[in-house]
Amino acid sequence: AKPIILDMDPGIDDAAAIAVAVNHPDLDVKLITTVAGNVSVEKTTLNALKLLTFFDKAIPVAQGAKAPLKRPFEDAAYIHGESGMPGYDFDQPNRQAMSTNAVEAIHHVLQQADEPITIIGTGAYTNLAQLLTKHPEDKPQIKGFILMGGSISAGNVSSVAEFNVFTDPDAAKIVFDSGLPITMIGLDVTLKALITPETTQALLELGRPGKMLHGLITAYGDVHTGGKPMHDVNTILYAVNPNLIKTTPAAIDVVTDGPAIGATVSDFQHRWHPTDFYNANVGIDIDAANFNTWFLEQVSLMP
Ligand code: BDR
Ligand code: CA
Repeated sequence: AKPIILDMDPGIDDAAAIAVAVNHPDLDVKLITTVAGNVSVEKTTLNALKLLTFFDKAIPVAQGAKAPLKRPFEDAAYIHGESGMPGYDFDQPNRQAMSTNAVEAIHHVLQQADEPITIIGTGAYTNLAQLLTKHPEDKPQIKGFILMGGSISAGNVSSVAEFNVFTDPDAAKIVFDSGLPITMIGLDVTLKALITPETTQALLELGRPGKMLHGLITAYGDVHTGGKPMHDVNTILYAVNPNLIKTTPAAIDVVTDGPAIGATVSDFQHRWHPTDFYNANVGIDIDAANFNTWFLEQVSLMP
């Protein structure tokens, strides 16, 4: 199985991503680290622990940044509820987070690993930027990043910015400028892969995990015509079935100030960068029906 580290801010769609990842036979989740984003980091940590308790998975959790590198923290409780995980009555966790913080926990896992590890980031990239700044020696141990975030078309918190990048643009810039392989699964993909009302309904037939996910998705405030985007789940799909998301090489710059703050600008025409410069593979298309089928299949296989 492919070793991965999940860095996230659960959050309803992060919760669904955890559910799929920890139960997928092709993935070996070495560590889950948490960051402030959808709700406070204390709550995102609690939510990760509740999910691991729910699935009874012995995966370590380490708490990370309480706030973005430079900007004030603003949550998204208007979409993910005050707890970040409404719609299902979870048991209190029967485990605790590590005493080590997220950055040192990732560093330790990378240093111990006998092969480079893929890091999947589905929250603000504060922890990941701190890791790259504090432990540049870890870079050879990072196989690449699969990031939910950004957009090469429109944004969801401003006309140009997506929430994860907008929350900590300074961190996003450090990650995108790191020179490491990056796959950016942004709104160009995730808003095409809406979970339909039929899929949400079908979850009710899929046992305890299905009922739990049905509750979360029903409570989720990210509503679009045709369904709800489970943004972060797309990164897990990409990790196991990269052929299901169409990507293209791109030169991405993160805007860290001004009215376009948080935008991920793609220099497709190479007017700013040298013609051979590419720093990311950007997801540009996905088949929504395939996504819904795949998601239901994953849930049906959950114990
Ligand atoms: C992203 O923002 C968060 O609210 C979601 O969990 C997802 O990671 C979508 O813009
Ligand atoms: Ca998220």
